[in-house]
Amino acid sequence: MMYTVIIPAAGQGKRMGSDKNKVLLELNQRPIIFHTVSRFEQDASCNAIYLAARQEELTELTTILQGFTKVKGLVVGGSERQYSIHNVLKTIPPCEVVMVHDAARPFVSHETLTQLYDGALARKAAIAAVQVKDTIKVVNDLIIDHTLDRTTLWQVQTPQAFAYDLLMEAYSQAERDGFLGTDDASLVERLGHPVSVVVSDYDNIKLTTPEDLYFAEAIMKKRGI
Ligand code: CTP
Ligand code: MG
Repeated sequence: MMYTVIIPAAGQGKRMGSDKNKVLLELNQRPIIFHTVSRFEQDASCNAIYLAARQEELTELTTILQGFTKVKGLVVGGSERQYSIHNVLKTIPPCEVVMVHDAARPFVSHETLTQLYDGALARKAAIAAVQVKDTIKVVNDLIIDHTLDRTTLWQVQTPQAFAYDLLMEAYSQAERDGFLGTDDASLVERLGHPVSVVVSDYDNIKLTTPEDLYFAEAIMKKRGI
């Protein structure tokens, strides 16, 4: 048994403040998207990789990804991450497990991938997350409203892994309801289906703002990438 991964790469990277899509920026002479796709190319349980891309970047991405044997398709994304993923989900062949992973998150560990795949096979929905390190407060107009109980708070990452049928149902229902979530699990949660958490690691960062590139370089150095 194997899984399919959907990697949305059709964003603009506005918070990175670069003049191009952040996933095309280079780390150690390779585009970020190259490092991210490598994680799955090297995972024996993954047999197909599909990406969402911006129309105007299809050619550049195809060139970057030409050496990867598991890349089966690039689909034009939408105006929101959720729409980009749904566009891809509608085109992939039915399979048992689908993972969704951000192109901007190049450091997911092999161990996390294995645990997510096992979790999706056993319980149909499993996502990577780490416990929150900081105290989190609800703030209105720069005045603290209240403090949350940190022991219950988890910082959610990708990959998020699901049984294919469950993810399809979750995306279709969200579309019917006009619901826009900030991650894939939230669409599954609204169906009332339990989603389990795999304890990931703090290295699995999403490259969002410019300083994340410094952290990325340090992680690459530590891993010898
Ligand atoms: N993404 C996508 N389609 C969109 C928006 C985002 O495929 N319409 C992808 C991004 O390319 C990224 C992932 O979803 O790999 C996570 O989104 P985020 O980190 O927010 O990236 P961007 O939307 O590109 O960045 P920003 O929000 O700062 O503009
Ligand atoms: Mg975004």
